[in-house]
Amino acid sequence: MFQISEVLKRVPFFQALGKDGIDFIIERLKFKPYEGGDPICEAGDPGDRMYIIISGNVKVVVVTEDGEENVVANLGSGDYFGEMALLTGEPRSASVITTEPSEMFILNKADFDVIIERFPSITLSMSKIMSQRLRETNQKVAAGHKTTPASVKGKLSEKPVHEVLRFCEDNSLNGKVVINNGAQQAVFEYERGELQSVSLGDMPEDQALDTILNWSDGDFLVEPKPIAMADLKAREAASRKAREDVSIVIVNNSMVVQKLLQRAFESMGYEVFAVETANKALKMIESMKPTLVISDTKLSDGSGIELLNSVRSLGNYPFVLLTEASNRSKLVADAAGIAHTHFTNSQEIGEVVKVVESVLS
Ligand code: CMP
Repeated sequence: MFQISEVLKRVPFFQALGKDGIDFIIERLKFKPYEGGDPICEAGDPGDRMYIIISGNVKVVVVTEDGEENVVANLGSGDYFGEMALLTGEPRSASVITTEPSEMFILNKADFDVIIERFPSITLSMSKIMSQRLRETNQKVAAGHKTTPASVKGKLSEKPVHEVLRFCEDNSLNGKVVINNGAQQAVFEYERGELQSVSLGDMPEDQALDTILNWSDGDFLVEPKPIAMADLKAREAASRKAREDVSIVIVNNSMVVQKLLQRAFESMGYEVFAVETANKALKMIESMKPTLVISDTKLSDGSGIELLNSVRSLGNYPFVLLTEASNRSKLVADAAGIAHTHFTNSQEIGEVVKVVESVLS
């Protein structure tokens, strides 16, 4: 399993979930690399999985009625696709093809459904993106699909008014909630999760609110306004900027593990230096003064514990040791009393990222 919770945090619909939610999802993701030009999904096919891009790029293509291919979007690291078929049960709305070698997380429908059930709030954030995408696709493609912007709806008998309003606050809703109760219709306008206005016929706002809060029958519709792409990019740029100040030294014998870890942390926006020996690591740490060190337990010129001891003479750099189940307890005992030392339960990238994130948080 290969997962990167920091990439997930940049995915807008995961942002609302917090650490528990992200951890829950991480365990269900599968890692898959693709070559450039690989078709990942095809318009019209049934969809049983969604994809999160770790690195690389894809183009989203729709074919118009006159057979013309139209690229409606290019998506990169931190973006996701394939969610629409899972949410709507409809066939794929577009074809998606890699434009360069790319790495993905794959989330199967069964797991996606469990996640939606457990964290229903993500349907709201997801529907914001979905409506944005549909709008863009509609603008770029004259002919084709019938589309309606995504929204969240339900019955007040299942979700009382105060819970619907809380849901909008928790999800920083930009948009409105329409509640129908018999012949009466109430409208709540929200901006960034803050209630801006309540209307119910000609009633003054406070009286309207009291009345609506007592409604137990009827239905509600939460209609998010699409987020401007510029807002999303600005948010992503801000969180990326924060991570640029963090540097990580990776020490590993294996070029493959080195590269995988390096790519994973770089795709999250960290500055990464990878070396293969303890000797090189010490020089690097001395000159770069990194935020954190990740080391394998066996190196060609010594052990991870020896490196840890030497690093301690340079400073209290948080040190993550890549242990395996078979050697973990011995290493924990060997490192007992050495401050700022952390252990992974495995050498899997996702596990390493999880440990590093908790150390950095
Ligand atoms: P799905 O319909 O399951 O499969 C194709 C995917 O392409 C779709 O989900 C979206 O994730 C993605 N997609 C479709 N239109 C756009 C768009 N305009 N912008 C970005 N992604 C899109």
